[in-house]
Amino acid sequence: MNTGLTVDERVGKLLSQMTLTEKVGQMNQINNLGLDHGDVIREGRVGSALYASSATAGNVRDAGVDLDNLNAIQKMAVEQSRLGIPLLFARDVIHGHRTVFPVPIAQASSWCPELVEKAASIAAKEAAANGIRWTFTPMLDICRDPRWGRITEGFGEDPCLCSRLAASAVRGYQGDDLSDPLKIAACAKHFAGYGGAEGGRDYNTTDIGYRSFRDIFLPPFMAAANEGIASIMAAFNEIDGVPALANKHMLTEILRNEWKFDGVLISDWNAVCELIDHGIVQDKREAAFISLMSGLDMDMVSGTFIAELPSLVDEGKLSIEPVDAAVKRILSLKFKLGLFERPFVDKTLGKKVVLTPENRACALALAQKSMVLLKNDGILPLKKDIKRILLTGEFARSRTELFGTWTLDGRSEETGSVEEALSQRLPDGVHMDVHINYPDEIVRMARSTDVVIACIGEHPGRSGEANSIVSLDLPPGQLERLKAIADMGIPIVAVVFAGRPLAINWLSKRAAAVLYAWHPGIEGGRAIAEILFGDVEPGGRLPVTFPRATGQIPIYYNHKPTGRPLPPSLKEYGRYNDCLDQPLYPFGFGLSYTSFTYEKLEIVKNRIGTDDSIEVSCTVTNNGEREGEEVVQFYVRDCVASVTRPVKELKAFRRICLAPGEKRIINFTVPVAELSFTNINMKKTVEPGDFLFWIGPNSMEGLEGSFRVTVDGD
Ligand code: GLC
Repeated sequence: MNTGLTVDERVGKLLSQMTLTEKVGQMNQINNLGLDHGDVIREGRVGSALYASSATAGNVRDAGVDLDNLNAIQKMAVEQSRLGIPLLFARDVIHGHRTVFPVPIAQASSWCPELVEKAASIAAKEAAANGIRWTFTPMLDICRDPRWGRITEGFGEDPCLCSRLAASAVRGYQGDDLSDPLKIAACAKHFAGYGGAEGGRDYNTTDIGYRSFRDIFLPPFMAAANEGIASIMAAFNEIDGVPALANKHMLTEILRNEWKFDGVLISDWNAVCELIDHGIVQDKREAAFISLMSGLDMDMVSGTFIAELPSLVDEGKLSIEPVDAAVKRILSLKFKLGLFERPFVDKTLGKKVVLTPENRACALALAQKSMVLLKNDGILPLKKDIKRILLTGEFARSRTELFGTWTLDGRSEETGSVEEALSQRLPDGVHMDVHINYPDEIVRMARSTDVVIACIGEHPGRSGEANSIVSLDLPPGQLERLKAIADMGIPIVAVVFAGRPLAINWLSKRAAAVLYAWHPGIEGGRAIAEILFGDVEPGGRLPVTFPRATGQIPIYYNHKPTGRPLPPSLKEYGRYNDCLDQPLYPFGFGLSYTSFTYEKLEIVKNRIGTDDSIEVSCTVTNNGEREGEEVVQFYVRDCVASVTRPVKELKAFRRICLAPGEKRIINFTVPVAELSFTNINMKKTVEPGDFLFWIGPNSMEGLEGSFRVTVDGD
């Protein structure tokens, strides 16, 4: 019953009728809320329900969402509570609901904001049709340490790429009108710095310098806020001694006062209570008080707000203002979602929007564009002279393992294995054997084959939350059989499934080809078959640096020069006595089935004012006989500044498709303001001076030019 009032007016009117308990009830989220919670629902002591099985839901499959049950719970809230305020149902729809897309780090490998947006819009439709109107994604944690299992849930190591994809995800999930019954509220997480966990140990201390915090870890969240994201989730971790939920500078001064974010700020699972474990509060009462006063709106499943805030207000120890402010934001989100007009889910929606051919086509395209060809001695795409194939490896017959972590609703029967996809795609006259169990039998069979396709890598069960590892080597036992095959001179095409970069040194030297498939989702098997036989090319480019060895971590492209940059003579070897310094594969790297040439680098003006834009271009040519896609990347370096600056920073990129032999001029126009950083006085600013820039295929190659920024461009 839209009363013609504005959302703010409706919120104000409702708030004025609410008791203190009902207000704090809106700030309380309960997991797996059921009809057995009748009293809590009728008394208005819960505002949101989280469908998650456990504290680390990403690796624990639950029974899924029962729409009838959800509507029954909603009916109880709407018809039996005093004010009939609808519940907001939430679930981690991290990379698809029933149409499972590649894991987020794979999606980042596509460097294709349009596809990431489309995938998010499909995920929103399917989740909304299943009663879920709030998802806890995109995860925007910059991560430079693949030992941390949650690297798979984010968009990699770079703030520019991550920010672009953050905005795409927000647009996809939320659209232009949140009241659209097929749109859902997104949630940028984990605010902030969670990916900086020391040792890659999940939930660990982060000791991030304030400039890095501002210039590396925060930009993706700011991009999401600027795109109008409906909510943000505060992180578990501390930064330099201050846990996120006690960090008023971050949660209020930056988020609310600087960025003007007016959405809902929710804690992570039980994090309010965990302030006690952090050792900065004595008890739940203090935990509730400090997290509310720092800026938190909603308490995820700890029950601390509903237990402690009413008495704090009643005893005069807490004013009602911060409570009202939080409740206003929560009610505002519910009004914007149209929950008061349409609290119940139309059960007929599902069959119209779930697992449609269009959804699958998007999952296939995203999988194809996210797989990264890291090495190819020419064996790919498989040629006509290949008559016998041996398919092996733990993932050869996998189905749900292709989905990756945080797959709560994908179903095995709705996907296909690599074996099935290859069998369907086999050209006439080509025979494929499959053997994955006995290493000696694999080696024996390999002798009479033309190529071994080895589907190896890490199981999704050791990826994602609470899944840190100390070694990035391939899991035990996988290399030994491949070495036996390689020693017989049989070519190996390694298809690597993983949620993180692995140190695949041996593969990079001894495999004939390496295709990094990540955990590619519901159409992953088909994408691989079509790539191996050349129907499409692998389109991915790395969103994160691949190390040679775990001991190189942290290693990332946008590092500082130091006072002793490597001299050319040492460039290859660097500072380690026992390992080359350079990454195994650099940020932005990926091969295609054709090749590209970069030439004629140009800049419109090489003296540019601080209020102006950098306008550069170069000509890219497809040298091959087949159409190909390239991700053209634009990097800069600030040569001299009041603080040290990275040796390279991505500032723009574009995916292009060129016909065989086609030449195209690729232009980038980047506002000089994009060169701003947190300077010696902790102020975000652009400092005039000399810059280098590159346009190229990745962070280590490209055509180099220079320009100078002056105050007025003279
Ligand atoms: C988990 C995760 C968070 C997730 C939430 C709800 O602990 O840290 O990313 O959204 O709880 O499942």
